[in-house]
Amino acid sequence: MNKPLPNSIAAMDAAHQIHPHTNLRRHLETGPNELLVRGQGIQVFDETGKGYIEGAAALWCSSLGFGNERLAEVAKQAITDLGYYHNFRGSGTPQAAQLCSKLADIAPEGMDKVLLQSSGTEANDTALKLVWYYWDAMGEPKRRKIISRHEGYHGTGTLTSCLTGKTKFHEGYGLPFSDFHYVTMPYYYRKAEPGESEQQFSTRLAEEIEALILREGPETIAAFWAEPVLGSGGAITPPEGYFEKVQAVLDKYGVLFVVDEVICGFARTGEMWGSQTYNLKPDLICCAKALSAAVIPISAVIVGPRVFEGMMQQSDRRGSFTHGYTYSGHPVACAVAHEVLTIYEEMDLVTHVKSLEPTFLAGFKALEDHPLVGNIDGIGLIGALEIVADKDTRAMHDPALQIMPMLDRLTREHGLITRLIGNRIALAPPQIITQPEVEEMFARLKNALDNAVNNINA
Ligand SMILES: Cc1ncc(COP(=O)(O)O)c(C=O)c1O
Repeated sequence: MNKPLPNSIAAMDAAHQIHPHTNLRRHLETGPNELLVRGQGIQVFDETGKGYIEGAAALWCSSLGFGNERLAEVAKQAITDLGYYHNFRGSGTPQAAQLCSKLADIAPEGMDKVLLQSSGTEANDTALKLVWYYWDAMGEPKRRKIISRHEGYHGTGTLTSCLTGKTKFHEGYGLPFSDFHYVTMPYYYRKAEPGESEQQFSTRLAEEIEALILREGPETIAAFWAEPVLGSGGAITPPEGYFEKVQAVLDKYGVLFVVDEVICGFARTGEMWGSQTYNLKPDLICCAKALSAAVIPISAVIVGPRVFEGMMQQSDRRGSFTHGYTYSGHPVACAVAHEVLTIYEEMDLVTHVKSLEPTFLAGFKALEDHPLVGNIDGIGLIGALEIVADKDTRAMHDPALQIMPMLDRLTREHGLITRLIGNRIALAPPQIITQPEVEEMFARLKNALDNAVNNINA
């Protein structure tokens, strides 16, 4: 990457913007990868006019693609009408009430209470407080411990970093706090023992959770936290029987189940909720991202009857529910999210994703025999392929060869942005994608993989 020109936008960025998830020293030197200035449909365009299919819907979130005038009009109207009001001390706006009602309509059965927030991190952080609030209400305040999975991702706030099971997100911050425990991720391709079936692997992982609960004492375990499909952990679908067996353990010990649907919500996995795809029984659901098609920050915790009953008891005992942010229930964000849910209804989002799933999965299947690909995985409109040096031993390439950065560069050259996670290339395109666009996305990916083989062999 060349040094950015003085006075260019890139130079301003390099000099002044601290970027998340970026090597900061390198960024000072190189500036941004590219500056994206415009979007249309599933494509984004950089300042030179080059278009890219956003194969990862940016951060798994731009469900309706880019550059949406209808949503802009709704935001403009909401700003013109009121602009801002809060929802503290019983105040309200029509936009927040209407959004909560619409979200309750599509939430899994029995879950009809909604607590609005502004990001996935906030939703998870709030859900954690609700878990502790619930156990306090039940007279079991010792239930503080949380179980999540290695490589699970639930945000980077102080507490949500502790829910996140990636050690990289703990190091340097003195985290995690005590009370956070991690179990094996359900990653059959790499974590199963030789000869172990998916069902056997799932049994072993459920037993691991039960052993942890018994070791720590069931009376200390508050909740289990999981994404239906591990997103930032690699776009990894659970093995057969996994959630059924885990759910049975949670039920046995009365442990709350918090399902992080920040990526999986809104038909990403083929049903409206990942919880429905995998038949989960969540006590709390965290959602964000596609709730507003990511055009404005908003998230929600959907509260099930068990936890809501605890919250009612707290109101009886303590009065006010002492939690809330200035921007939770922001009327402009609520108006936009409401319009997004209306668009989902109009396009029959679930049916649309289901109709594309075979083409999407066939795209991965066609790459399974590619010399660089060790494993493919996917459901709905989320999936990944794993790059290996040796298909039989599953050995990875020497990191010094920089295969993944090379693949990132090559896919971009072919006009495709993907999400790289370790040695996996994940795809989760905007849900508005069409069948020819899915095919074009995989054609670009294949070209990049073929170029990479040529480069490796050169
Ligand atoms: C599953 C999951 N939970 C939580 C978060 C955090 O959301 P945010 O970045 O909006 O705080 C993310 C972000 O990618 C996520 O993928």
